[in-house]
Amino acid sequence: MATPKTHHVGIIMNGVTGRMGTNQHLIRSICAIRKQGGIRTSDGEVIFPEPVLVGRNPAKLQELSKSQGIDKWTTDLDATLDDPANIIYFDAQTTGRRFDAVMKAIKKGKHVYCEKPIAVSSAEALELYRAAKAAGVKNGVVQDKLWLPGLVKLKSLIDYGFFGEIISVRGEFGYWVFDGKGPVASQRPSWNYKKEEDGGIISDMICHWQYVIQNLFGEIKSLSCLGATHVKERVDESGNVYKCTADDSAYATFELKNDVIVHFNSSWAVRVRRDDLLTIQVDGTKGSAVAGLRHVIFPLRSLRTCLASKASHIIVLD
Ligand SMILES: NC(=O)c1ccc[n+]([C@@H]2O[C@H](COP(=O)([O-])OP(=O)(O)OC[C@H]3O[C@@H](n4cnc5c(N)ncnc54)[C@H](O)[C@@H]3O)[C@@H](O)[C@H]2O)c1
Repeated sequence: MATPKTHHVGIIMNGVTGRMGTNQHLIRSICAIRKQGGIRTSDGEVIFPEPVLVGRNPAKLQELSKSQGIDKWTTDLDATLDDPANIIYFDAQTTGRRFDAVMKAIKKGKHVYCEKPIAVSSAEALELYRAAKAAGVKNGVVQDKLWLPGLVKLKSLIDYGFFGEIISVRGEFGYWVFDGKGPVASQRPSWNYKKEEDGGIISDMICHWQYVIQNLFGEIKSLSCLGATHVKERVDESGNVYKCTADDSAYATFELKNDVIVHFNSSWAVRVRRDDLLTIQVDGTKGSAVAGLRHVIFPLRSLRTCLASKASHIIVLD
């Protein structure tokens, strides 16, 4: 059999030494695609990603490149942007650094894909979108929650008409983030809790709920959100105590154009006593269900109502 034509696609991966960059995007995505031999297109050709690891710490980059078997790494972002072999720019840096770097990449004609949020203000996010459109480059932002198995199953239930008319939605997201003062280190970076470093759960999580709501429940008409900083002091990566200046909890209510009311609590200061780190309860005129990360559960009587309403399909989502 003839060897398929292979397109080697250079991808600049900036911020790849961070939590998201290393685990989600490099190891679980790009390295996994490389291990399976690339992506085969419908016409039988192969797209093979060729990442360039970009960051500020040479020792970390070298270690990562060795452990993942990736040859190319550098601390010189500009040089990677000038290299025509790199056609995609990916960004998983801290949120506040995203705008400048993505804009630079767009100006160099790179297609761009980045972590959420795109920027720290709607005005900057729109500016990036318009610049990408004007430059004619492809652009995208991570919307990972939409493909959680639990949310995919929830979408199937909605499409089958299981809920009848949806009335309201209650989302609970969060877990306890240790303050680092005791024997357990904080599981999240300290910049998350500092406004001056563009941290805060409102900008971190509301962007997720925007695309989840718009894809599952309808267009958003209005949003009101109360933020709070419940834990006042934490310990950083160097063991120093710092004052928390950013919100660690967000209590948000969305009103949708179709009159559905969606309430979402997001918190890094809550101990989980529910089925999952994220649960979304949907109440409708014919049925109710609760979606978690992987499963959807619903009371039997909702199933009976659905059957009685002569829905064409009933599916068990587990
Ligand atoms: N999709 C999701 O569910 C999800 C989850 C968590 C975080 N995120 C987003 O991903 C992004 C990264 O978050 P994280 O938790 O991985 O953070 P992190 O602190 O672990 O990583 C940040 C990265 O930015 C780099 N960086 C920071 N300051 C820099 C500087 N001055 N110069 C050059 N590089 C610098 C770091 O070296 C690191 O590689 C954030 O925007 C966050 O909102 C998304």
